[in-house]
Amino acid sequence: MNTTEVKPLEEAEIVREGRTEHRLPPAKEGRSELQQERHGKGPADRAHRSVFHNPAMANCRTRSVLLMDYMLDSEWLNKPVIHTLDALCATGSRINRWLTELPNEKAAKLRITGADLDEEALEYAKKNCPDVTFIHKDSRQVLLESGWQWIDIDPFGSPLPFLDSAMQSSARRSVMEITATDTAALTGSSANACLRRYGAKISTDGMAHDSAIRLLMATVARAASRHDRCIIPLLSSWDSHHIRVSVKVHRSIQSANQLEDDLGWRVANPTPDELKFATDSGLHPQGETEGQPYCLLPFDYPVRRDDERISGPLWTGPLFDRDVLASMTVERAVELCGDDAERAVRYLVDEAELADVRSLITTDVLPRYCAVGGPPRLAELVEGLRDAGYKACIAKWGAPAIRTDAPWTIVLQVTESCFD
Ligand SMILES: C[S@@+](CC[C@H](N)C(=O)[O-])C[C@H]1O[C@@H](n2cnc3c(N)ncnc32)[C@H](O)[C@@H]1O
Repeated sequence: MNTTEVKPLEEAEIVREGRTEHRLPPAKEGRSELQQERHGKGPADRAHRSVFHNPAMANCRTRSVLLMDYMLDSEWLNKPVIHTLDALCATGSRINRWLTELPNEKAAKLRITGADLDEEALEYAKKNCPDVTFIHKDSRQVLLESGWQWIDIDPFGSPLPFLDSAMQSSARRSVMEITATDTAALTGSSANACLRRYGAKISTDGMAHDSAIRLLMATVARAASRHDRCIIPLLSSWDSHHIRVSVKVHRSIQSANQLEDDLGWRVANPTPDELKFATDSGLHPQGETEGQPYCLLPFDYPVRRDDERISGPLWTGPLFDRDVLASMTVERAVELCGDDAERAVRYLVDEAELADVRSLITTDVLPRYCAVGGPPRLAELVEGLRDAGYKACIAKWGAPAIRTDAPWTIVLQVTESCFD
């Protein structure tokens, strides 16, 4: 049992995020320059504030409000009451934002429980959200106590310790949002941790963060299938220090048995055979043209695990739901979450029509493949691809990138034409 002395709540500092005012223990005086610089950006630490609160997660909490807003209108959650667990809730900032920013009739449907092992954080959570049940207990136990319909898992580091309890206890149809901050393991830069924790090898190449999202998704899918469930991805994101996936979870032994249909490999500098297989499998819209940077391959493609070009096993299915992306308009974000919400959803609506397209093209690599002196302007490249009759959009990504269904030769031609 945590015996931390709980400080008087009158000292609370009010922090505004979205349209929500949130009480937190005051930030400490005499912070180092590094801590000062991090304030407002995160990640936070205990030298900065006695309980965990990370302002760098604001955009992710905004998307969480918007996803709930969309899903509460959907058939998937067609129930009068939605049993919701914020399994690692800290001071309840996500719960506070749901309850403050969702339309009243939707917020009223939520029966929310928050769990955390930090007693002081929970004292603040109770003040922030007086009508919510907060439990000071290991969340793995709390997860097993009910058939949750909405589960949020936002741990320090890897979500692995929580996944089996979450899957085992989820309702027949549920939604799970899962954050991972152990990006060094997931992106393969800590190769041993990646293999030990996730049973995978990730090449630390220009696609490492996309591979990390696909590895987290594969890990969630495997946990689901161990408990006779399958997942349907709704949303995925990479924001500086964290990776997050949001999925529908469905109890279905038949679908759980088909897990391997959505698993596979990423290969860098693919051979002609690999490009042909990827294209024939529907995983690579850029086609068979030789000399491309990457493609995805299905699970049954024979790969050599000592091949440095290979990352995986990964999730090779879609990372997004088209309708969820289409619902994340700037107008809705600003209406629900306030004027600062635009950044949380920028580009997402445009990605809706490419939600099924697996490939992501980072434009920094393009000068290596055609006669241009630098990367093209994203907007110009996208416009050129659309003018050529293909779907294309700027990707919401941590580096300049697009998604398109255009063949590789067209991507290169349009890139060159951007410099004419
Ligand atoms: C990253 S923080 C959560 C932040 C929170 N979701 C938010 O948006 O502000 C992780 C939290 O998990 C709590 N925690 C870690 N292990 C736990 C466990 N086994 N059971 C319950 N809480 C735990 C920590 O006390 C910490 O408050």
